[in-house]
Amino acid sequence: MTSEWQPRSGLWTLDPAVLHLNHGSWGAVPLAAQREAALLRAENEANPAAWFRALPQRVASARRELARWLGADEAGFALVPNVSAGVTVALAAVDVPAGGRIVVTSHGYGAVRFAADRFAAARGASVVEVPVPLTASPDDVVALLTPAVGAADVVVVDQITSPTATVFPVDRLVSLCRAAGVPVIVDGAHGPGLLPAPVPVGADFWTGNLHKWACAPRGTAGVVVAPEWRSRTLPPVVSWSEHGSLPERFDWQATADYVPWLAAPAALDVLDDLNWPAARESVSRLVAAGADLVAKAIGSEVPDLAAPAPTMRLVALPPSVRIGDKAAEEALRVRIARDAAAEVNVCVHDSRAFLRLSAHAYTGARDFELLAARLPALL
Ligand SMILES: Cc1ncc(COP(=O)(O)O)c(C=O)c1O
Repeated sequence: MTSEWQPRSGLWTLDPAVLHLNHGSWGAVPLAAQREAALLRAENEANPAAWFRALPQRVASARRELARWLGADEAGFALVPNVSAGVTVALAAVDVPAGGRIVVTSHGYGAVRFAADRFAAARGASVVEVPVPLTASPDDVVALLTPAVGAADVVVVDQITSPTATVFPVDRLVSLCRAAGVPVIVDGAHGPGLLPAPVPVGADFWTGNLHKWACAPRGTAGVVVAPEWRSRTLPPVVSWSEHGSLPERFDWQATADYVPWLAAPAALDVLDDLNWPAARESVSRLVAAGADLVAKAIGSEVPDLAAPAPTMRLVALPPSVRIGDKAAEEALRVRIARDAAAEVNVCVHDSRAFLRLSAHAYTGARDFELLAARLPALL
């Protein structure tokens, strides 16, 4: 396999004995950001009282820096620990009457679906899942969602889907919801670091993780709230900031570990030094070629997605590999980790099972070559 990309694995501390091809699930924190976090933790433990006294100003400054990096309106950008929290606060803010509808798609993230289920049940409402085929074009996605949006009280859509690694036409979906007067919550878990402008204009709520593709320490995410929702959008934890206003109201989540938020800008510096927008293009070509190689090795194919995520690719698993439930998915991940020394994700959509391969700046052609050499014996 040829690739022009020279992996920058020296910037991370990943175990070289393992093929790390699942960045999309948990991210990976570069050494510089780990060091910054370690320094901050040492400062915290040297004088916890002084640390917490100085914290509000430091959190506010990190928050503003992250908002600028995302291109988000600083006045509407609040910090949360993860996208699950971001979706939860957004769903809690919107009105869904008894008998109402929360619309989601069949590409949604499992835990986000659980959040929709929880809020629907609490309000006597229901969740309507719009089936979207794997290879749907952006036009198809918009056409499939149009009738459901008309009858929705709120719509939850992904920016980049998790089980299918597809970029959804979020700007068009936001316009569709706006035109119908229906609030839209955009799950942008994978947007920061993968999309040039991850915060869509006009969305009522967008939430994204910085601990995935932006490589921040885990526990770093944001929610962008449109002006009309700010006064009623409350932090996930009720604490002393209860009577403040957004975004400051989210800065204090009680006694907790705030180091990831403060160290996150150090991860963004690493991406800047890598000239990440250009590097990402090379890494995208790498993962596309790598997925083809792996598919060929296992006698399978890369599905022809209309808009594959820049640095993630699906590889269909042969029909002989049957994945009936979550336990079987995990069992295959574990087997590949143990027998191929490779971390990959295993996903199911429309009853078809796939590997989801991810690449970041530390990934090289060798990772895919070794996976392609090892997988056939264990599938
Ligand atoms: C599309 C999508 N939404 C939400 C999440 C949840 O992210 P977190 O666990 O950081 O809350 C993920 C995580 O992988 C995801 O891929």
